[in-house]
Amino acid sequence: MGPTKRRARFARHILDADLPMPARYLEVGSFEGDSLAFVHALLKGRVRVTAIDPFENYDELPGIEMSTVERRFLANVKAIGAEVRVLSLKTKEDGVTDGTRTRNSQNHNLGLYH
Ligand SMILES: C[S@@+](CC[C@H](N)C(=O)[O-])C[C@H]1O[C@@H](n2cnc3c(N)ncnc32)[C@H](O)[C@@H]1O
Repeated sequence: MGPTKRRARFARHILDADLPMPARYLEVGSFEGDSLAFVHALLKGRVRVTAIDPFENYDELPGIEMSTVERRFLANVKAIGAEVRVLSLKTKEDGVTDGTRTRNSQNHNLGLYH
């Protein structure tokens, strides 16, 4: 299944779920926030997001500076006016995210909800 069909199916699942509004959306691995922006637009902004991402450089995305990605993510979230609580959690060697915050993580709460 290509990315367009996958995204269409993702949208259908969300819309068919008949979620109470504002919906709550937990996203693990947000990168620059593309999926988050998609869900936000799909639900016409009636969504509260918790985004978890360590924003640490890692092997699967070689050559990508994740501190830059994190800045773009925050700028994108701000640009769309989404209500997002961001947890920048450190990953352990096995790739599992634990509850430790990264060195410079302020668990960015973009001022919108707790
Ligand atoms: C391929 S990107 C995801 C794409 C993103 N959903 C989008 O809309 O563009 C993978 C993301 O997962 C994050 N990630 C990697 N390991 C993770 C972990 N153990 N827990 C949470 N996020 C993780 C990376 O930092 C990266 O931002």
